[in-house]
Amino acid sequence: MFELLGDWKRTDYCGSLGIKDLGREVILMGWVHSKRDHGGLIFVDLRDREGVVQIVFNPQVSEESHKKADLLKDEWVIAVKGTVVRRPDETINPNIKTGEIEVIARELRILNRSKVLPFPIEDEIKVDELIRMKYRFLDLRRPVMRKNLMLRHEVMRATRSYLDSKGFIEIETPYLTRSTPEGARDFLVPSRLNPGEFYALPQSPQLLKQTLMISGFDRYYQIVRCFRDEDLRADRQPEFTQIDLEMSFVTEDDVIEVVEGMIKAILKATKGVDIDIPFPRMSYDEAMLRYGTDKPDIRFGLELHDITAVFRNSEFKVFSDPVKKGGIVKAINLKGKAQHLSRKELDELTEFAKSLGAKGLAWIRISGDEWQSPITKFLSEREKEELKRLLTIEDGDVIFFGADTSYTVNLVLSNLRLRLGNRFNMIEQNRFAFLWIVDFPLLEFDKTENRYVTMHHPFTSPKEEDIELLDTEPEKVRARAYDIVLNGVEIGGGSIRIHRSDIQRKLFERIGLGPEDAKKKFGFLLEALEFGAPPHGGIALGLDRLTMLLAGASSIRDVIAFPKTQKGFCPLTEAPSPVDPKQLLELRIRVDVKER
Ligand code: AMO
Ligand code: AMP
Repeated sequence: MFELLGDWKRTDYCGSLGIKDLGREVILMGWVHSKRDHGGLIFVDLRDREGVVQIVFNPQVSEESHKKADLLKDEWVIAVKGTVVRRPDETINPNIKTGEIEVIARELRILNRSKVLPFPIEDEIKVDELIRMKYRFLDLRRPVMRKNLMLRHEVMRATRSYLDSKGFIEIETPYLTRSTPEGARDFLVPSRLNPGEFYALPQSPQLLKQTLMISGFDRYYQIVRCFRDEDLRADRQPEFTQIDLEMSFVTEDDVIEVVEGMIKAILKATKGVDIDIPFPRMSYDEAMLRYGTDKPDIRFGLELHDITAVFRNSEFKVFSDPVKKGGIVKAINLKGKAQHLSRKELDELTEFAKSLGAKGLAWIRISGDEWQSPITKFLSEREKEELKRLLTIEDGDVIFFGADTSYTVNLVLSNLRLRLGNRFNMIEQNRFAFLWIVDFPLLEFDKTENRYVTMHHPFTSPKEEDIELLDTEPEKVRARAYDIVLNGVEIGGGSIRIHRSDIQRKLFERIGLGPEDAKKKFGFLLEALEFGAPPHGGIALGLDRLTMLLAGASSIRDVIAFPKTQKGFCPLTEAPSPVDPKQLLELRIRVDVKER
């Protein structure tokens, strides 16, 4: 029953037909999206990557095609020859692009059939994501997924065209390389020709793009795959794509300006949106103070207030004890929602806070003059007056408190803020709120390792005026680093780099990397820095995260053609998998794991 294409050549995509094509003779090819039999006429919605068009099989036009059309089932692959006509007025469908027309079929060729599908080819489906990933070839037929991948293509195209216009040169760097330090574990690849030795897949092209600056390429970019063996979440994959760039003879403002122009071009090309630049900038300290995170969603208020000073000598131990140990107390005022938060919901919020490491979540509901709360009785009149003033407390407000180390308080309250913002629809949708975070600390003290570690990577330059503090007060040294945040998601980060080998060595020493270790790990960079390295800096944007936000998707998996699960597994190809013992022998690798 199968037929060949023969001499048929497709003339149009189904989804691109319209009134402009009336009267035209067309040849279409695609998948049977659905079929309906209406008293003698058979209607088929034919689908291809551009959309759907209605085909009409009328026995009066062609008895043979009508008979064949009767056999068709969902997702069979067909080719149709016919004429584009205007639909009768009462059947016009304003909801689809091709809703004003239909194609009267004269000939039909059945090219292939399909098994019954595990889920329908529709946007809204109720099916486990694992099944979608196992049948990714079908999942990607769903209009929403098709649109996401096309959007991704548009983002890449706009990126390339913008960077090309600004004189950037696209240069590829190797995937089989040496370990690069971005803070995650490496994926290793054994070398058959050098038994016992391994390549690392790059966590980023950081060192090589710096090397390219030393070579004089001046403006480099690459849309590049990066590999990080870390614990996965909705916005993380073990392999992901960066828009990676680097520039010579620049300061922070130059890199920021290029990125703002690029994002403006991407938004214009993909969404038709004219976004205002420059984007606002906020210091790391201010972001932590007001939002408790270095990636704040600034589409809504509900800010955190530091009220540590009020409770320094308080009788209320729950608040004063953490302060005595160097911790902080912060509060959020949820204005006017006292009537909307039941006791049950407050208990749920407390559990949520505890799941993030809080010891509890003190709250006060303001009802008239009454402060309803398990903690009011512990507060002095002075403390209540202070709170009233600092938090502008009014009738109907609900106040939440966190008292602990600054790490825990900020973690808990920043997440509570997001949860409350969502719960009360305070977050403006359809808005793109970009924000630069600047003035990061260069170093932070890692208690488990008992040494300083860099907050970004160890090639980030300290601010010139802070270099002296490297020896005396390392925490106070600020970095020439900048992150870019979109709607509360970190979509990129970069910095001006260290281009002097003496400062690079000094920083390595500061983070506990002696001259020998530094040479072993980054010898080639240290050497290159001694041969006329220009001042340089750059950034990398997460292409998957940016596309996810532009698509309005909730996971980066929905903008990646073949993603992996949280366990790093690909249900389609079933990677990773055991390998042939012969392969291992060749690689001189012995595996010490029981058979799966
Ligand atoms: P960084 O490590 O901040 O910087 O990475 C840059 C951006 O890449 C995205 N990203 C990820 N996206 C998906 N899955 C992941 N596992 C993942 N990890 C990171 C984020 C992040 O902001 N070499 C530096 C850049 C530079 O200094 O130029 C770097 O890689 O959006
Ligand atoms: P307790 O005296 O432990 O029963 O706590 C009194 C109230 O304070 C309860 O509502 C707790 O949820 C809350 N609470 C306890 N510890 C903390 C803390 N570290 N930060 C904020 N609230 C807390």
